[in-house]
Parts: sequence; structure tokens; C-alpha cells
Amino acid sequence: MTDLKEILCEKQGKICLIKINKPKVLNALTHSVFVELNSVLDDLEADDEVRVVIITGEGRAFAAGADISFMKDLDAQGAKEFAKHITCVLRRMESLDKVFIAAVNGYALGGGCELAMACDLRIADKHTQFGLPETSLGIIPGFSGTQRLTRLVGLTRAKEMVLTAERINAEESYRIGLVNKIADEGMIMDEAYKMAKKIIKNASIAVSYGKEAINRGIQLDMDSAIDYEKNLFGLCFATADQKEGMTAFVEKRTPNFINR
Ligand code: CAA
Repeated sequence: MTDLKEILCEKQGKICLIKINKPKVLNALTHSVFVELNSVLDDLEADDEVRVVIITGEGRAFAAGADISFMKDLDAQGAKEFAKHITCVLRRMESLDKVFIAAVNGYALGGGCELAMACDLRIADKHTQFGLPETSLGIIPGFSGTQRLTRLVGLTRAKEMVLTAERINAEESYRIGLVNKIADEGMIMDEAYKMAKKIIKNASIAVSYGKEAINRGIQLDMDSAIDYEKNLFGLCFATADQKEGMTAFVEKRTPNFINR
């Protein structure tokens, strides 16, 4: 793994915690944050033990966006390259067979909001503010924010957030379906681990197929998406965990999954 300087990574059995660690600049996102994140993804891809990855930020922000002081002098080609590298890393998170949970502490703006949206699930604390303020800086969201936000909350609210550049609070984010849960004061990491543990209890192949069916299916027309789901459904029946899960139900006991 690349030497980590801007993020921290700590594995605890089946759960890996990644923390963006630039609190002085509210975890402003640079190219190197994503080089490091990509290197952690390389490591996770080869790691069969880790099943859930929690991403959070050190200090009072999840991430207040891409680093504006770096971006201000970019030209069109440079900006496109910058966005290309980062969007590839975010896309990779969506295709890995791990579940990503964003524990969104404080500001999740611009690129920070886009990073949270590339995760499978989002938990916010009461002070979290989400926003895509890019149009107030003379740009548009460049880390796939226009696309992911629209898919998560629909055209109406996505257009409002992008075109007004206004921030929304945790309650509003929950109301429009941008976050799964709001944690009580000081409880965000507990809630993230609680959610991770619920996921880990389930059959790992089924969990990863569930993620894949949803992520791939949403890009397809309905008939193709249903076919995609049907194939993965069939493949579940080639796993030991399907036999164990159903046998355990019939025998009225807790299943003992072996992740095969
Ligand atoms: N880039 C670079 N530095 C940033 C930053 C960013 N996105 N966000 C915050 N910082 C830095 C500030 O410059 C400041 O540094 P100094 O102490 O050295 O001056 C430090 O973090 C603390 O920030 P503030 O003093 O501004 O803290 P605040 O509490 O007054 O305000 C805030 C907090 C409302 C989040 C404000 O910092 C802010 O508006 N940040 C920018 C948010 C933004 O516009 N994000 C979108 C970026 S564009 C993007 O992400 C493009 C894309 O899609 C790829």
C-alpha cells in the first residue's frame, strides 16, 4: 500500500475504517487523497476478510469539497484530468464487493458530498450539512455529483441543490432520501458500526450481489435489469450460504455462514 499521509486506514476484522485526515482545511480533497484512497482500495480488493468500509473525516467536516486553492489555476484539460482520476476511484468503490458506509460528520460539500454519495449508505450527525456549491464558484460538480445526486433524490431536488448552490441540513437530507439515518449527538461512529455489524451478519456473497444488482440495474432498462437480477439470484443458489441460510430457517436456528 502507498504510504498514507492524508488518510488513515485501520482494519478491525471485517470492518475497515478510513478517515480523511486534513482537519485544518476541513478535509479539502486533493489528487493525493484519492491516490491514497485508490491504494487502500487495491489492498481491500485483495482482502477477503474485510466486508464493510466506513469512511469519515477527522475534525468538524467529512470533507468541504475539492481543494479550491489547487483548482483555481487549472485549465480546461487539467480540470478534466483531475475529475477523471477521482471519478474512477469513486466508481471503483461502487463496483467493489464491499459495502461502503459514509459516516458524514459535519460539512459534506462539493467533492465531499460526491464522495459520500459514492458510498452505499450514509449516516449523518445532527450538524451535517450537505451541498453542491460549485455553481457559486463558477463550475459544476465534477466528481459525478450531478449524476449521483439525481439518481439518489430525483431531478427536482437535484436541480434545486445544483442550481441554487444552497446547503441542506441533516434533517432535510434525511427527508429527501440523501441519508439513511441521522445519529444522535456524538453517536455517529456507533451508528456506523451498528449498521456495519447488521450487514456482516448476512451472507457475504448475497450482500455483494444485492449491491451489484442495484448498482448495475439502475443503469439498465427495466427488462435488462430484471434479467441481471435473475442471473445473480440464480448464482446465489450455487453458494453454500444459500443452503445454510434456508436450512437454518427450516431448522429454526441462526445460520452459520461461511462466506462461500
Ligand atoms: N478547499 C480548500 N480549502 C478549504 C476548503 C476547500 N474546499 N474548504 C475549507 N477550506 C479551508 C479554508 O480555506 C480554511 O483554511 P485557512 O484556515 O487556511 O484559511 C479552513 O479550511 C477552514 O475553513 P473556513 O475558515 O472557511 O471555515 P468556516 O467554518 O468559516 O466555513 C465552510 C466552513 C462553510 C465549509 C467553508 O470553508 C466553505 O465554504 N468551504 C468551501 C466549500 C465549497 O465550496 N466546496 C466545494 C468545492 S468545489 C468542488 O468540490 C468541485 C467538485 O465537484 C470537484
